[in-house]
Amino acid sequence: MMKIEAAKSAGFCFGVKRAVEKAYECAEDKEKKYYTLGPIIHNGSVIEDLNSKGVTVIDSLDDLKDNNATVIIRAHGVPKAVYDYLEERKIEFIDLTCPFVKKIHNIVKEKYEEGYKIIVVGKREHPEVTGINGWCENSAYIVFDEDIDEEYIKSFDKICVVAQTTVNKEKFYNYIKFLKNTCNCIEVFDTICSATEKRQTEAYEIAQRNDMMIVVGGENSSNSQELYKLCKSVCPETYLIQNASQLKSGGFENKNIGITAGASTPAYIIKEVLNIMSEVKTMPNGEENFADILENYLNSSLHIGQVVKGTVDRVSPTEINVNIIGFKGVGIISLDDLTDDPQAKTSDVAKIGDEIEAMVIKKNDLEGYVLLSKKKVDSYKNIEKIKAYAETQEIVNGKVVEINKGGASVLVDSVKVFVPNSLATERFTEDISFLMNTEVALKIIDFDERRKRAVGSIKAVLVEEKKKLQDAFWAGAEVGKVYQGTVKSLTNFGAFVDLGGVDGLVHISELSWGRIKHPSEVLKEGDVAEVYIKDIDQETKKISLGFKKAEDNPWVKVANQIKVGDTIECKIVRLVPFGAFAEIIPFVDGLIHISQISDKRINKPADELKIGEVVEAKVIDMDLEKQKISLSIRALLENIIIDDAEAAPAAEEVAPVEEAAEEVVEEAPVEEAATEE
Ligand code: F3S
Repeated sequence: MMKIEAAKSAGFCFGVKRAVEKAYECAEDKEKKYYTLGPIIHNGSVIEDLNSKGVTVIDSLDDLKDNNATVIIRAHGVPKAVYDYLEERKIEFIDLTCPFVKKIHNIVKEKYEEGYKIIVVGKREHPEVTGINGWCENSAYIVFDEDIDEEYIKSFDKICVVAQTTVNKEKFYNYIKFLKNTCNCIEVFDTICSATEKRQTEAYEIAQRNDMMIVVGGENSSNSQELYKLCKSVCPETYLIQNASQLKSGGFENKNIGITAGASTPAYIIKEVLNIMSEVKTMPNGEENFADILENYLNSSLHIGQVVKGTVDRVSPTEINVNIIGFKGVGIISLDDLTDDPQAKTSDVAKIGDEIEAMVIKKNDLEGYVLLSKKKVDSYKNIEKIKAYAETQEIVNGKVVEINKGGASVLVDSVKVFVPNSLATERFTEDISFLMNTEVALKIIDFDERRKRAVGSIKAVLVEEKKKLQDAFWAGAEVGKVYQGTVKSLTNFGAFVDLGGVDGLVHISELSWGRIKHPSEVLKEGDVAEVYIKDIDQETKKISLGFKKAEDNPWVKVANQIKVGDTIECKIVRLVPFGAFAEIIPFVDGLIHISQISDKRINKPADELKIGEVVEAKVIDMDLEKQKISLSIRALLENIIIDDAEAAPAAEEVAPVEEAAEEVVEEAPVEEAATEE
């Protein structure tokens, strides 16, 4: 009877699983175009499937024609030059370099900078090795099957040896033995991935006790090839197949058959192979699911919920890696588990070398990694602080990280505090989206001990601040005091100006020396305006403000520029039955009485003048107090001296500017005006 023994550690390793899952996630995003730099795994059907979903493989960045594309860096990693290229050209990328490979990059970079000759035990043409070499300016000495050039190695004072993650352990240590005898200063980093190591050890053991061995894996997969060679060395009847279709149709009867799979072999392919084998039910634990088997295999060196300390040794846009004290594997904290701030980037929260405390939330000792959460630890630690804030009612600062229907979530000391809509602003505002991503001051007004939930109020702080400002204002307010205020709102009758917690009104007549129809001709909301207090009503707390300045008074200006007897140029701006108004300077008009328009009798001013016309006129009278100026064209035409009596009409007889305007409406009869001659 045929018996099957399947390796527990077969199939996707952690690094490949992560990369493939992320690639499928990208395939869902139809907004962007994604390219993987080289195939994401050595498995044709997965690559084809991803391609059909829009994730295309490119062999080189030169093939990237689309500047808006996002490049996916696969688990194998890439040389430093690739990052430089992407960053220089501002090409978006997702870095899925396996953390174990990234660790090698860091070692190689550091040791190369310290003057070590880098030696890599690995396949020269393998992309992982190409990537590693790219972190020492492609100067590494790479060995795999060949002998080491002893003389060449001796020419270096110090050497640093690393391994391709999937290299056979025995091969690596054979080279190390040789190098230790060759070079006095040698630093060895066993960078063989524990996932690989465990797969190889297990496969070797299974191969030893079975009649036939089937290795499921891609032809180009380095670790599958290694598994095949290893098994073949102890079990001559070993086959490397890529999928179930390559299974032999017979020859399994009455045999003990071992099955393993490379790190880039998808679970469904392994399952297919097992299903075709007639006695699949004889798998360990009766399970068919490799993921379950892997989970069961976990040991308990770190336990879920344990808080660990470590140092950040890698920061990528999506996660950080942590070197955990006393733990050989890698700690990974995804961005989601770093912070509750959805806008934050990993680099905002952590940088290389930072010491960090985090909680184990998932672990895989077989693969040698644990997933951690920093935000859980932060939250547990700081919840006590939030409780204290609620008791003391002190003002705390936080960042608004979420706006939802009922209010906002504010991150205070890494703890989310809910602020209801009604407490988010000083006056109720339905739409509080403007608060998103802003720093706010708030008070914790309620803390639910059992549910560890806190409610905050931004309003409480705003109201308190306003009260303080108001008290300070009223303590120093007096007529004549000048303020730099902010225009809060405009109405038809004036502008409300915030003087610092208290509003005052600048009446429209106070905004300009001239006539304006609306305050917006002078000010707009948000303007900072210099105003002074004209009047205060302490009872009603109403403040009247002045805005226009005495030195800008056009009547003062005109008094300095002209005098009676001067000949001036002026522009006709209005015609009325009894004469014409002419602008002398902006906001100051003089009246040319109908009798002073011409040296001959006219029926109406329009007989001689038209609006917009610039004329020369003589100043025949000025009453600055009453703001009246009389002009005469006739005096210039006749070249006669008009005495006061003849200079009809006298200033006080002329309708003032305001009244005159009204007279236009009232249509004063021509005769009546003419009789004033
Ligand atoms: Fe990473 Fe090891 Fe797999 S190095 S990609 S977890 S074989």
